[in-house]
Amino acid sequence: MPDRFDLPAGFRWGVATAAYQIEGAAEEDGRGPSVWDTFSARPGAVRDGHTGAVACDHYHRYPEDIALMKGLGLDGYRFSIAWPRVLPTGTGEVNDAGLAFYDRLVDDLLAAGITPLPTLFHWDLPQALEDAGGWLNRDTAYRFAEYAAVVADRLGDRVPAWITLNEPFVHTVFGYALGTHAPGRALMFEALPVAHHQLLAHGLAASLLHERGLEVMLSNNLTPVWPASDSAEDAAAAEAYDTLHNRLFTDPVLLGTYPDLSALGVPDDIYGAIRPGDTELIHTPGLDSLGVNYYNPTRIAAPTDAGLPFDLVDIPDVPHTAFGWPVVPDGLRQLLTGLKESYGAALPPLTITENGCSVEESTTPDQPRIDFLAAHLDALAQAVAEGIDVRGYYTWSLIDNYEWSEGFSQRFGLVHVDFETQKRTPRASYAWYRELIAAHRARRGR
Ligand code: FCB
Repeated sequence: MPDRFDLPAGFRWGVATAAYQIEGAAEEDGRGPSVWDTFSARPGAVRDGHTGAVACDHYHRYPEDIALMKGLGLDGYRFSIAWPRVLPTGTGEVNDAGLAFYDRLVDDLLAAGITPLPTLFHWDLPQALEDAGGWLNRDTAYRFAEYAAVVADRLGDRVPAWITLNEPFVHTVFGYALGTHAPGRALMFEALPVAHHQLLAHGLAASLLHERGLEVMLSNNLTPVWPASDSAEDAAAAEAYDTLHNRLFTDPVLLGTYPDLSALGVPDDIYGAIRPGDTELIHTPGLDSLGVNYYNPTRIAAPTDAGLPFDLVDIPDVPHTAFGWPVVPDGLRQLLTGLKESYGAALPPLTITENGCSVEESTTPDQPRIDFLAAHLDALAQAVAEGIDVRGYYTWSLIDNYEWSEGFSQRFGLVHVDFETQKRTPRASYAWYRELIAAHRARRGR
């Protein structure tokens, strides 16, 4: 395959997964329950009542999954560490058997020539901490920092870079504002202390990681926001949405300030959550790279009722994935160049830490996924040609897995998983990605 994407030498190719979506072994080796175990057991919470109790059984099958990664020739693997495996109640005594799993994983990755890139929190909060208020409770930020230190002390000799949080926007809004994800709270804007406490957790952990000489990243779900029309009302609604989805989770980290939240009807101190000195704690450690998870733009119209300051509307005339998400590859270029315009010199190098699509199981030979990835990599290469510093691309996902409230219905893998037998079968996109990485190396070196 010609290396049509023309990305720089040293660009890192990877895949991404998350603990609750692949590991299974929910009750093994001392793992404590997480909010996702509780939520997924609630009747009606998840499509078809699916849970992650077994998922892809990666906890036992990780050697096979690492062999699949090695077959791709990856530079890096983004995975998450399950907090309740390491600290079953979120705090206190460390469960050595849980940490030992990540020790084995890291060693085997390194032996396969793959750099581990762990995420410390990908939504599976220990249930005991949720019982104490979860992310609505400021203490959770301090518990997170303790947990980060425990894990970094064990793995930091072999793991150079760390992602603190995955998509604090999605966790805040789906988990605590709307209740469609664990822990299933529906507090609307009163959920926003959860945003601040996660950012505080990020800042506290980032300091501890930097003290240990480790690099720090944060993976945000970012979206270009498109007003539905030229009207002033739609523009104002789009700005309010951009504040909530993008700026609320990026400004404090990169600039040390919160955006004006008045259009959301939220007080400046986020209902008393922001205390003096907090924004410094969030901002001062800095980021070595901002992780960008990109799936689609969001089109926004003025609200039709008094409930919210915006309406989300569909993007017409573009293809949609099996999940119903609009496919707009150029949105990735717009997003990356827009970040540079907004943050200028305050923008650290970027890493795409998620991008991919779900495809119907019956679709062969997996052409929609290949087309999706190719078009997004074209858009990425264009952004790089326009001067954006992007260091790597981790596609979501290596294997089909547990897609949160959608259960096993959305298939995002380069590798198909039969959830009855756990048989892994590489798809056409797997071979395509392998060739793409090989072509890049042939041209640019490693
Ligand atoms: C992202 C999540 C990831 C996965 C993809 C499809 O929002 O971070 O775990 O579910 O969506």
